[in-house]
Amino acid sequence: MSESIRFHLTEEWKRTHLCGEVAINDLGSEVVLAGWVKKVRELGYLTFLDLWDRKGIVQLVVEQEQQELHDLFRSLRSEDVIACRGTVRKRPGDMVNPAMKTGEIEIVADRAIVLNRSAVPPFTVTADVQANEDLRLRYRYLDLRRDPLQENIELRHRIALLVREYLASEGFLEIETPMLVRRTPEGARDYLVPSRTQPGKFYALPQSPQLYKQILMIAGFDRYFQLARCLRDEDLRADRQPEHTQIDIEMSFISEKEIFAVTEGLMSFLFDAILGIRLQTPFAVLDYEEAIGVYGTDKPDRRFGLEIRDCSAVFGSSEFKVFRSIVQRGGVVRGISFEQGEAFSRSRIKELEELARSLGAGGLVAAKVSRDEASATVSKHLDGKGLALLREIFRVEAPTLLLLVGGEKSLVSRVLGELRLHLGRANLLDSDTKLYDFLWINRFPLFTEVEGGGWEPSHHIFSMPLEEDLSCIDTDPGKVHGHLYDLVCNGTELGSGSIRVHHRELQEKLFGVIGIDCDSARRKFGFLLEAFGYGAPPHGGVALGLDRLAMIVGGGTSIRDYIAFPKTQSGTSLMEGAPSEVEEEVLRELHIEVRKRKNGE
Ligand code: AMO
Repeated sequence: MSESIRFHLTEEWKRTHLCGEVAINDLGSEVVLAGWVKKVRELGYLTFLDLWDRKGIVQLVVEQEQQELHDLFRSLRSEDVIACRGTVRKRPGDMVNPAMKTGEIEIVADRAIVLNRSAVPPFTVTADVQANEDLRLRYRYLDLRRDPLQENIELRHRIALLVREYLASEGFLEIETPMLVRRTPEGARDYLVPSRTQPGKFYALPQSPQLYKQILMIAGFDRYFQLARCLRDEDLRADRQPEHTQIDIEMSFISEKEIFAVTEGLMSFLFDAILGIRLQTPFAVLDYEEAIGVYGTDKPDRRFGLEIRDCSAVFGSSEFKVFRSIVQRGGVVRGISFEQGEAFSRSRIKELEELARSLGAGGLVAAKVSRDEASATVSKHLDGKGLALLREIFRVEAPTLLLLVGGEKSLVSRVLGELRLHLGRANLLDSDTKLYDFLWINRFPLFTEVEGGGWEPSHHIFSMPLEEDLSCIDTDPGKVHGHLYDLVCNGTELGSGSIRVHHRELQEKLFGVIGIDCDSARRKFGFLLEAFGYGAPPHGGVALGLDRLAMIVGGGTSIRDYIAFPKTQSGTSLMEGAPSEVEEEVLRELHIEVRKRKNGE
């Protein structure tokens, strides 16, 4: 035994077990363990030490006569790294800890060496850490030592393995596509990489392998997949990172239905293998317009009802002036019925009104209604027939709170969509029941109108319009729907995909709608258009967010907890300090000159 730190691990200190894996059937064995010190306790003439590695914690104990070892253990602080040799024995009855994997045994320490000392950690490395997220990201290696993050990263690894296993068994080939690509605008901003050898030219980092996977189909690969790193310079949220990973899939000679089936097979395989849950397949399919109408969003959380219902007809001809004029001006009046809200106090209802206003609504009408009574908010404006119709629309059986919003259709959908999420998630979800509601949303509009005129693709411009809408491409792009679909689980968009365009003329026509004329299409996407001319097969695919999938399977709320080295909301990596300034010399080599910002420029 030595107090000095050992730089080299000699053969005698080769680990025999991982800490969390020593078990009752190792009783009597001599073991060598290594790991991080979590806790040292003195109990009379005994010293106990909790030693941790990624498989768990094991208790070491030093007996009375081992004075030097006592001194060493008592000098250790949490996160110091040691190796220890000892013998496994059964804990005395009153020391058994059933909450611990190794709770039945302990290691009677014989010799130990210090492999490294730790500075005082900026936070205690325990599962229920108290430190804020910025501090934890700054010391990510300590944060990652905590059990929940160890489990999350291992879960992600298992998902990746299972994805490979499943897709390979379904005949997919894993093919890597480049990280340095031509800039081909895809929605978000690109990260650019300057070329040293070709001054003034830039690579982009891929926002997704979209065009490459399509070209792989043209190259005859038929079924491709990749766990693809995607980089996007976009505003971040809890479920968005500048770097994310997609389970990227593409298939040739395929229908939307077949893509759904492969994806559902993959999800069922994963959920069964990891959670032992049998998902109900096929997943429900909801048309985009229907999803917006009923749930106010294209990523509905349907674990609770609270469906939005239209009552414009009731108010269009009523005495309720505000709603009547909204309907007469082409707007709508819609609402949700929330039975638990029947008991809401005035102040809780006021909070809901404020929430609705903060989302852009002119107001919120909250009316308590039962089979034979209705609060004055509605009863003073509606006659018996109107009230009966209102009850029928909202299927009022028991006393309930109706929350009604009037206005322009998309605003009303958005406000009620948020209100139902707010009420449903807080009041109707039983956190103990693990419910995974998967559904497809399809038939998205192909184009979205941009403020100030013009169109942009709703997903990306490579998606196939529905056959029945082909004729509207030139005349009314807003009416064109696409073979475009999203996979949604519990209100999170888990994946997106489409059947692609594989004909050059049609692709050029779609470029035209979004203002890319033939010349610039050739400049930006010439390689793809050219490839279409050499026998492009019909094809389509989907990409699932691996980070989001891990978060859902793991029951988390932020994808940052499922990524080893995530960025903050402002795209910074606090641990190593990226992005960073670089030396003048490096910039010169890259032919880059940085303009200094002048007063807030
Ligand atoms: P899309 O842009 O919808 O489609 O991305 C597919 C899925 O990837 C996940 N995702 C993200 N996850 C974390 N952080 C982000 N910033 C982020 N952006 C996207 C989501 C999303 O559903 N090429 C197309 C796919 C295709 O058409 O096949 C694409 O990239 O879960």
